[in-house]
Amino acid sequence: MAGSPVVLGIESSCDETGAGLVRDGRLLGQAVASSMDEHARFGGVVPEIAARAHVHAVAPVVREALDRAGLTLADVGAVAVTTGPGLSGALQVGVAAAKSYAFSLGVPLYGVHHLAGHVAAATLDGGPLPDPCVVLIVSGGHTSLLLVRDLARDPIVHLGDTLDDAAGECFDKVARILRLPYPGGPAIDRSARDGDPGAVRFPRPLTGPRDDPYAFSFSGLKTAAARWVEAQRTTGAEPRVPDAAAALQEAVADVLTRKAVRACTDHGITTLVVVGGVAANSRVRALAEQRCAAAGITLRVPRPGLCTDNGAMIAAIGGLLARSGAEPAPLDVAVDPSAPLEYAALTPLPHRTGRAA
Ligand code: KG4
Ligand code: ZN
Repeated sequence: MAGSPVVLGIESSCDETGAGLVRDGRLLGQAVASSMDEHARFGGVVPEIAARAHVHAVAPVVREALDRAGLTLADVGAVAVTTGPGLSGALQVGVAAAKSYAFSLGVPLYGVHHLAGHVAAATLDGGPLPDPCVVLIVSGGHTSLLLVRDLARDPIVHLGDTLDDAAGECFDKVARILRLPYPGGPAIDRSARDGDPGAVRFPRPLTGPRDDPYAFSFSGLKTAAARWVEAQRTTGAEPRVPDAAAALQEAVADVLTRKAVRACTDHGITTLVVVGGVAANSRVRALAEQRCAAAGITLRVPRPGLCTDNGAMIAAIGGLLARSGAEPAPLDVAVDPSAPLEYAALTPLPHRTGRAA
């Protein structure tokens, strides 16, 4: 194998503009700019604002990541970019920037799936992932239990997905109900520190004996939280927000970790990988650790800064693709805002040429 290239990864699928530099599975430097504050007063990401913020942030973020790595653009040997899924306008900014870097440097470009990037983040903390492993991916838009073999080459098997809301979406929506600030996940995590998780009884959706053991459903939790707040207010009491936050966090962490551990034991797999923004949640991390230890499962969770959206994870998956000899993307590769998670690379593979990009 020729020397592994330094891969520049660019992420712009939602409200974070991320750039990261990875060589040989090692993180050399990264930088992230967020337009979160600009969305806060709207209570959610405004696509046009996000896209405009990416335009302003992308070049400075790439420069900052290079500075932190002690590198210059001339050191970059490949570029990887999120081509989907995500907000169309936001994705287009990152893809346009990545094409410009790849074209002007004369290096290959890899179009990658955002969620495969989340999975690859785990390789930056603790090295390559074992083949096979079970991956629990929990972000603002997705919640899935996956069976992953060679991430760069093999199709990704979905053991189960959410039937409605994603886990992060549940945190964000309940935070709004509780009048906690946006983004809701970190706000619930902070508020829960002062709360009693046993003070409110929230359901554990799809955990009955007849339910699909690997499917998730979180929209009922949102309704349960809304009912609880309403019931508190009708008694004249101000809702104890920390208690509700702690109880919600406990319900989500319980369901996620219970099903993830079950997927491992059912399939005889000894490594569980937990990734995505919700993997930054303190209770999800603690309960996953406790339950994996009890079941003899090795747990891999990246540090919190690599769980939420970033460019390093995109560089990581780009590096894996480059090292496995994957075909680079053509320079006219388009964004795919609703790309399903089938393969890590989002470049048109022979069996996908019929897909709208
Ligand atoms: O992976 P991510 O950064 O972006 C997507 O791909 O969606 O995930 C964002 C989600 C948001 O819903 C956010 O509220 C949630 O991750 N999140 C958290 C925490 N940090 C971020 N949820 C719970 N606890 C946290 N500490
Ligand atoms: Zn993400």
